[in-house]
Amino acid sequence: MSRFKAVIFDLDGVITDTAHYHYLAWKELAESQGVHFDHEFNERLKGIDRMGSLDLILASAAHQRQYTPEEKLALADTKNKHYQELISTMSSKDLLPGAVEALDTVRRAGLRIGLASVSKNAFTVLERLGITDKFDYVVDAATIARGKPDPEIFLKAARELGVAPADCLGVEDAVAGVTAIKAAGMFALGIGHPFVLTEADVVITSLKEFNLAAY
Ligand code: G6P
Ligand code: MG
Repeated sequence: MSRFKAVIFDLDGVITDTAHYHYLAWKELAESQGVHFDHEFNERLKGIDRMGSLDLILASAAHQRQYTPEEKLALADTKNKHYQELISTMSSKDLLPGAVEALDTVRRAGLRIGLASVSKNAFTVLERLGITDKFDYVVDAATIARGKPDPEIFLKAARELGVAPADCLGVEDAVAGVTAIKAAGMFALGIGHPFVLTEADVVITSLKEFNLAAY
């Protein structure tokens, strides 16, 4: 039914719409620093870890003042507290259409299932969604040295699942994430728009269109 042995999913924007909560929390933080923040800017932050995202926001500030490491940590913490508040009421109703069906299809086909999110909140989000036990392996973002677009997180997931990268299908909504999948030597399924996710092998609008046999 599939030429792959494992499917490795991103979380935010693929399985659940936390991408929107990240957007809201970053927007408030950016504007508190006088930085204009819109959906276009947010697209560049998708898949980028917390401190990396903050650096991109502060680098685009008109005032260009220097922030100390302590100030940066405090700002990142403010954003994260706001984000955690936003996700605290999440439940299985926040699963994106087609997500559970896609996970179950992969399971039925006998493939291994991994999760590769650079979010340190990923375990909490999986718990709230009630889908933790659907994964054979979830990468702990705290153990990853280099975020996406580096392939490290996808390579770690493949290694822990015991599957060669070439036998893995990676699923991502972020430009940086698709780059990471391709750099890992995997097949990249993009969730979004083909003119944004130009490096992906195949792009679909949402997991509702997930068709394992077709890739
Ligand atoms: C995901 C999201 C990013 C987010 C990152 C870190 O990759 O796509 O928008 O910045 O995780 O999330 P965290 O929950 O650790 O701040
Ligand atoms: Mg994502």
